[in-house]
Amino acid sequence: MAKIVLLSGSVRRDSLNAAVLRTVRRLVHERPGPVPGGHDVAVLEAGRLPLYDGDLEQSGGTAVVEESKDLVRDADALFISTPSYNGEMPGALKNALDWLSRPSGDSPLAGLTVAVLSASPGARGALDAQPALTGVLARCGAHVVDHEPVAIGNAHELRRADGEFTEPSVVAALGGLVDATLAALPRPAVAHR
Ligand code: FNR
Repeated sequence: MAKIVLLSGSVRRDSLNAAVLRTVRRLVHERPGPVPGGHDVAVLEAGRLPLYDGDLEQSGGTAVVEESKDLVRDADALFISTPSYNGEMPGALKNALDWLSRPSGDSPLAGLTVAVLSASPGARGALDAQPALTGVLARCGAHVVDHEPVAIGNAHELRRADGEFTEPSVVAALGGLVDATLAALPRPAVAHR
């Protein structure tokens, strides 16, 4: 069973990006797992993390920081969906990545498979927030999934009242990223008879 963590760049209650990740969760659950039971999917809430502070880190951080780092350390893959705030990822997401980048040399992000996507009400789907995000991830030693960019524009019009995305082109784009991410995970060892 692959352990998957979802991280929205927006902490807003009615976030389009959180909604996109709910559809990612559904698609992951639809994919067959390496063992019966499928995949284990958890959410990391960037809004629960305190502002990064070296003094707080030196004094042992906080329980929510440690929980978040443990969640990512145990994960096989992380999906991040972000809006663009003035052409960049929101500060809450950068803050989460700064915590996850620590300690330097033993970051929970190092070696982790990370799928990046974005969504916004604008036509370009916050595509402009992706380069800096992938740059930070690469700097932390994460393996960003090699896939054409997935950026969902006009997302407020495409989201259904129940919060799901079912428009075929969106589902196909998200499904392609999900498949590429699961395919990038190391194969579980097969027992020899
Ligand atoms: C935005 N928004 C925005 N949208 C965009 O397409 N390009 C941009 O540069 C910005 N900049 C920006 C800055 C700030 C400070 C805010 C609060 C908003 C709008 C943004 O895409 C919109 O609020 C999304 O709905 C946010 O994503 P969630 O919260 O729905 O996931």
